[in-house]
Amino acid sequence: MTNFRLWPEQASTIAPQTDALLLFLLGVSLFFSLLIAGLIVFFMVRYRRQPGGDHAPDVHGSLALEATWTVIPFVIAMAMFFWGASIFAAIQHAPKDAMPINVVGKQWMWKLQHLEGRREINELHVPIGRPVKLTMTSEDVIHSFYVPAFRVKQDAVPGRYSTVWFEATKAGTYHLFCAEYCGTLHSGMIGRIVAMEPAAFEVWLAGQEPGAANVPVAVAGEAVFRAQACGTCHRPDGTGQGPPLAGIFGKTVRLQSGETVVADEGYLRESILNSQAKIVAGYQPVMPTFQGLLSEEDVMRLIAYVKSLKAGGGGS
Ligand code: CUA
Repeated sequence: MTNFRLWPEQASTIAPQTDALLLFLLGVSLFFSLLIAGLIVFFMVRYRRQPGGDHAPDVHGSLALEATWTVIPFVIAMAMFFWGASIFAAIQHAPKDAMPINVVGKQWMWKLQHLEGRREINELHVPIGRPVKLTMTSEDVIHSFYVPAFRVKQDAVPGRYSTVWFEATKAGTYHLFCAEYCGTLHSGMIGRIVAMEPAAFEVWLAGQEPGAANVPVAVAGEAVFRAQACGTCHRPDGTGQGPPLAGIFGKTVRLQSGETVVADEGYLRESILNSQAKIVAGYQPVMPTFQGLLSEEDVMRLIAYVKSLKAGGGGS
């Protein structure tokens, strides 16, 4: 029992907040459970059948009592809702300056890559005191990225991107679990998160695995871009059959259908793999689909490359 802990360690900025909410929910539930159970026992004894007949006075409704037991639970329920919703919103919206990391789940491992190029499997190194944003997908079935010490759990879903962010507060090594049943070795789809002091992290990030140089994701993306000859149509000067890509990321794009869409990771992913889904206004639907030709990691690399193309600048 020496290692028994009621709670996982609190090692992220959001952890104390979710724990406080959970404690509040538990406290309210416990209070009313005990109150109701206690009253049941009390009334059983107090108004039990006694020799000499029934002496309990009749009650014919009480507006004050009805209002009380309506208003108090309403106030408590609303407090729970707004408290929970505010934490949910905080978890959903990553800070702008969050450090991006790509995550691909597959049966049965986690593949992670830092933008600077360092790759990891079933292990993720992060600095403390800095928000980290994971963009993730899956190559096969639904997995779920779960770090109890950070109070963070997010599904990785095939065919689309999901994101989650956290900021580690304490250096240390923490469990990483897959929290969605994904087949025979689901229980073995585990790993660890290593939260490091920023200086130590920079040293780690610059380091290399033996035999594998760190190629920044955007540079690897440029190689895919060339290999697939994307530049034949997506010419930087806008004379190609496809729209130029520099500066497109994060912009609002007008489509042929008249709709507009923000060019985020999800949109770029769809445009690469399902190229006929959303055609940019003024262009023909001539782009071939790259479904099955590119791995999820290649798609993430291409997106990193497109993100790196600044308007008015580069693009090759
Ligand atoms: Cu992957 Cu369970």
